[in-house]
Amino acid sequence: RADQGKILRLVMFGKPGAGKGTLSARLVKKYDILSISTGDLLRQHIQERTEVGRQAEEIVAQGKLLPDAVMLKVVTSKLDHLRNKHWILDGFPRTVGQGELLDAHLKKQGTPLSLVVNLDVPDDVILSRISDRWVHLPSGRVYNLSYNPPKVDGFDDETGEPLTKRPDDNPEIFARRLTQFYASTKPLLEYYSTAAQKRTRLPRVATPNQHPHQLAFPPAHTLLLKTLSGSTSDEIWVQLDALVRERVPRAEGDPRESR
Ligand code: AP5
Repeated sequence: RADQGKILRLVMFGKPGAGKGTLSARLVKKYDILSISTGDLLRQHIQERTEVGRQAEEIVAQGKLLPDAVMLKVVTSKLDHLRNKHWILDGFPRTVGQGELLDAHLKKQGTPLSLVVNLDVPDDVILSRISDRWVHLPSGRVYNLSYNPPKVDGFDDETGEPLTKRPDDNPEIFARRLTQFYASTKPLLEYYSTAAQKRTRLPRVATPNQHPHQLAFPPAHTLLLKTLSGSTSDEIWVQLDALVRERVPRAEGDPRESR
């Protein structure tokens, strides 16, 4: 169990195909941290033909977004079981409305977001990656023929089951998802930038320009917004690893070198 004041609440933010799922999976492997991907959850709902799945099928296939209230329910039904765990959200929030709903929910739990990582990858790099992406739908594991290819072509490393292309990864739908990102999701960066400024840890002694209420913010409730840029495979991972290393213990049995 993590100390309440030090629990990592990380939003992995970025364009479709920026590497949110890939990098979250790497963190989960290395650290004592869990990841929730709304894309994976929706694909599971669709496969299981749940009520949410029936609603999501058409919307996801068209590269559009589900309503904020539906997504909040999908996410919180998982988050509420992870109150004492370090976690990553991949693919949520995706609108300012979802950001506000999430903040209100976490405020009630007393563990607000602590880190927002903005993966900044150029559009042309993303477009070339997507044509090489293959996925194992039941687990959400993602492969790329040049960056992280499966051990056996066309099959999942862990289960040996066949890999597939996502139905929303064709060029026309992907372009729509990118447009949707700029219209609905990118404004969240401004939202988090403002929140991070408000929740910056400030010196204990007020300067004449500081409002006294700013000093009352407990250090455990500060929010860091960090943009990680890079177009080659491991540039971003090195920066992300350094950010998380300070905040979360390693997974038990992680064989890699000690810190
Ligand atoms: P979702 O599954 O979340 O799609 P997305 O955000 O568009 O993100 P992707 O999964 O496409 O990409 P990623 O950033 O995870 O990149 P990846 O690691 O795979 O959502 C799907 C749909 O569900 C949405 O369109 C919407 O309809 C609905 N939905 C989901 N959440 C919602 C919400 N909150 N509200 C409303 N609707 C919602 O990497 C991409 C490729 O690049 C891979 O092939 C990978 O191997 C490769 N790669 C990754 N990193 C690198 C690297 N560093 N170098 C080289 N290649 C790399």
